Amino acid sequence: MTHVLVTGGAGFIGSHLVDELVSFGYDVTVVDNLTEQVHVGKPDYLNDEVEYIWGDIRDRELMTELLEDADVLNHQASAVGVGQSMYEIEKYVEVNTLATARILDIIVNEEIDLEKVIVASSMSSYGEGAYRCSEEDEIRYPPLRDAEQMKAGEWEHVCSECGAELEPIPTPESKPRESTSVYAISKRDQEELTLSVCRAYDIPAVALRYFNIYGSRQSLDNPYTGVCAIFSSRIKNNNPPLIFEDGQQTRDFIHVSDVARANRLAMESDASDVALNIGTGDPKTIHSIAQTLIELYGKDGELEPEIANDFRQGDIRHCFPDTALAAEEIGFEAEVGFKQGMRELVEWGRTQDAEDRFEEAQTELEEKGLVGED
Ligand SMILES: NC(=O)c1ccc[n+]([C@@H]2O[C@H](COP(=O)([O-])OP(=O)(O)OC[C@H]3O[C@@H](n4cnc5c(N)ncnc54)[C@H](O)[C@@H]3O)[C@@H](O)[C@H]2O)c1
Ligand SMILES: [Zn+2]
Repeated sequence: MTHVLVTGGAGFIGSHLVDELVSFGYDVTVVDNLTEQVHVGKPDYLNDEVEYIWGDIRDRELMTELLEDADVLNHQASAVGVGQSMYEIEKYVEVNTLATARILDIIVNEEIDLEKVIVASSMSSYGEGAYRCSEEDEIRYPPLRDAEQMKAGEWEHVCSECGAELEPIPTPESKPRESTSVYAISKRDQEELTLSVCRAYDIPAVALRYFNIYGSRQSLDNPYTGVCAIFSSRIKNNNPPLIFEDGQQTRDFIHVSDVARANRLAMESDASDVALNIGTGDPKTIHSIAQTLIELYGKDGELEPEIANDFRQGDIRHCFPDTALAAEEIGFEAEVGFKQGMRELVEWGRTQDAEDRFEEAQTELEEKGLVGED
């Protein structure tokens, strides 16, 4: 039986992934340190068929032992807050970049024999997505909007050549990356370190560039992560979801069960030495996400998304994936529709008691000068 070592397997994505692997007959070991910001002790959804090791991926001795027994490494563990990464710089590089480097160092120096390595990467390292200038019929990759443009409330990108408004198009894996946070840089490091070392040692490796993932078990208490979780905890506490810019910025939201399946397909396929976008290819506006969540929580008429007349420095306007390469390489296509997936999130969310820590997190970011003001 193939033995898969999943790092971060007690987390949001990792836990769904281990359920998927167990149901397909894999033998699974998880290493997870139950990071305090994410977990309050052991989560209640642990899988009985899985061996859990409560340890740190930075521990060389432990990782050597665990890798010796593994056939496949699936590396999900990371520190995951974009805003927070801008002041906890050393920690993000240590947990993400350095720990990945150490794991690879173990693999090549301790005669670890692996059939496959999968690493969780992120769309955040693209920076802005791909755009098209319809005046000139040219592809454009604009940099982040500058403070002046944001302050003027000119939210959409314009063509640097002709000034026409740019139209967002699906972002292919080949788009030059422009990592604009320490988190994004560290995710790119994890991906590039893994692919280049595995290439040199002939170990099949696949990096999955996840877009925005939502679903049950997402940490509603961690205010530095997903917008769905943040909106949910605001709505549940009878506070309006706060929307930056004008709410017309888009994101690609993919359900966590689709992401778990993408991981299994990547592992089972012959794909190697490749990074793949994992998303739906069907972007939604932030305003429509907030509205959908309000409806699903039954607070229609009571709450309205609130345009905060604010913006966050470093936010992108649009980025959604070109999904063709994932379809070709691993036969993956997202299956869970947005409403269906959101309904599941909300049903689960009702059973959780989320503290609304949004304001606390917002204050912390403001203190560090990371939120723009009018
Ligand atoms: N959630 C998203 O939308 C999204 C998007 C893009 C990429 N990703 C990536 O997906 C992966 C999983 O993210 P998630 O959303 O499930 O986050 P999560 O915080 O729920 O899960 C991460 C898990 O890793 C564990 N962990 C953290 N540091 C560790 C360490 N030093 N040693 C051992 N375990 C450690 C945590 O305890 C947690 O259980 C991450 O690599 C993240 O960068 C997530
Ligand atoms: Zn132009």
